[in-house]
Amino acid sequence: MAREPDSVLRWAALLVLATLGTAVMTATNPGVVARITQKGLDYACQQGVAVLQKELEKIKIPDFSGSFKIKHLGKGHYSFYSMVIRGFQLPSSQIRLVPNKGLDVSIINANMKISGKWKARKKFIKAKGNFDLSLTGISISAGLELGFDPASGLPTATCSSCSNDINSVHVHISGGKMGWLIQLFHKKIESSIRKTMTSKICQIVTSSVSSKLQSYLKTLRVTTKIDKVAGINYSLVAPPTATADSLDGQLKGEFFSVAHPGPFPFTSPPLAFPNDHDRMVYLGISDYFFNTAGFVYQQAGVLHLTITDDMIPKKSKFRLTTTFLGTLIPEVAKMFPNMMVQLNISALSPPHITVLPTGLVFTPALEIQAFAVLPNASLASLFVLHLNTNVSMEVSASADRLVGKLSVDGLLLELKHSDVGPFPVVVLQAIMNYVLSTTVIPRINEWLMKGFPLPLPANVQLFNLVLQSHQNFLLFGADVHYS
Ligand SMILES: *[C@@H]1O[C@H](CO)[C@@H](O)[C@H](O)[C@H]1NC(C)=O
Ligand SMILES: *[C@@H]1O[C@H](CO)[C@@H](O)[C@H](O)[C@H]1NC(C)=O
Ligand SMILES: *[C@@H]1O[C@H](CO)[C@@H](O)[C@H](O)[C@H]1NC(C)=O
Ligand SMILES: *[C@@H]1O[C@H](CO)[C@@H](O)[C@H](O)[C@H]1NC(C)=O
Repeated sequence: MAREPDSVLRWAALLVLATLGTAVMTATNPGVVARITQKGLDYACQQGVAVLQKELEKIKIPDFSGSFKIKHLGKGHYSFYSMVIRGFQLPSSQIRLVPNKGLDVSIINANMKISGKWKARKKFIKAKGNFDLSLTGISISAGLELGFDPASGLPTATCSSCSNDINSVHVHISGGKMGWLIQLFHKKIESSIRKTMTSKICQIVTSSVSSKLQSYLKTLRVTTKIDKVAGINYSLVAPPTATADSLDGQLKGEFFSVAHPGPFPFTSPPLAFPNDHDRMVYLGISDYFFNTAGFVYQQAGVLHLTITDDMIPKKSKFRLTTTFLGTLIPEVAKMFPNMMVQLNISALSPPHITVLPTGLVFTPALEIQAFAVLPNASLASLFVLHLNTNVSMEVSASADRLVGKLSVDGLLLELKHSDVGPFPVVVLQAIMNYVLSTTVIPRINEWLMKGFPLPLPANVQLFNLVLQSHQNFLLFGADVHYS
């Protein structure tokens, strides 16, 4: 019984630990998940095999020579040289996901042609000619292991296994008086070429992965500076994982402040990916990603805008002058006759977006300070408004960027402070609506339409885009074109 408080404490400690554990797990939720489906892997495999083919065609085949001795004829010498690969066909390749391991690439029915020269000498008789070799039924099987480099956040690929087999080698020798003689050595030639090619093929496969594929993966834009204020971090936070039907990459998926990079006071929610697979790639972008943007820009103090009359369309009846405001709030014209009005609009708190299956919910809270511009150019405060808006945000992607567009659905004004006496705030509804939709929103949209880079490697463009809204994340599906 005396031990009870102790064990209660221990339970409490366990609970705290469990909560901490959960918190840590939550903290490691990626902001962006990139998924490559079997369809995408098939396309990548095609592109990869095309590169491999060019590399295989560059194989250098060493000369080889030997001597022969035949009854009555005596000893002679032959050599095969100037051998070049005339073509390496890889007509059939396949890529397979190996859950929890990586990828298996297999190539079957490949064939290659080699041509070269031969010469032979026996005492004072010399002869030479050409020959052609064909290798058929070549199969290659290679395992790809995917990882990531925590220092750079980049994915890595290594060839974890490679084997190949050449079903048949056939040589055709032509020309020369001693062509018949050389025929006697074709077994030797064939086995020598088979040996050379068997070892070179896997060498090329392995080095193509460690040089070509690896350097291609390095073109992934993991961190990109967007402007003076912010950048995007798409670093991998874990090795890519292979499941039975996709390859998934967990990306940090957050904005960072160029001046003060640091953690955020909120974490990323888990993303419950649906099992879609008719596009090559899927990108799940959590609302965390958007909210880190809002946080970085708001903290940097750049989410403010000064609106003056010259920014209002000339033909508009709404004017930012004390004369016009005086028609709504007579005191303004009385206190500050014939002056210009300036509005300072700023975001009071980091704009927050929630992604729901029904769409995006974006309700930025703005503060509007209105001033009269005095003849000596100093500002005299008129009033301060709080503005709650219902903004709809459309997000979409272009070939390689994420773009957005805002429109205001509703606007609720609240008078926070007045230097011109009390007035019903509703008189300002129409002008504020107008100012917002003609000056503020177009400026934000101009910026949003420039867009933000998506986590893509070089020379990749997206098409056939689909977009779905899910609990806490947007899901983009797309096919990929590599050029
Ligand atoms: C990007 O995220 C990675 C992984 O969390 C981190 O190691 C790296 O420092 C971050 N880079 C920037 C510029 O914030
Ligand atoms: C209004 O905005 C302008 C431009 O950003 C700034 O210089 C000025 O200090 C602001 N005024 C107030 C009172 O915040
Ligand atoms: C500008 O004029 C106002 C009113 O006439 C005065 O109160 C203020 O001190 C002046 N400001 C400057 C910077 O001269
Ligand atoms: C925003 O939309 C919600 C739900 O449609 C509504 O209740 C609220 O009054 C709207 N707010 C504004 C500022 O229009």
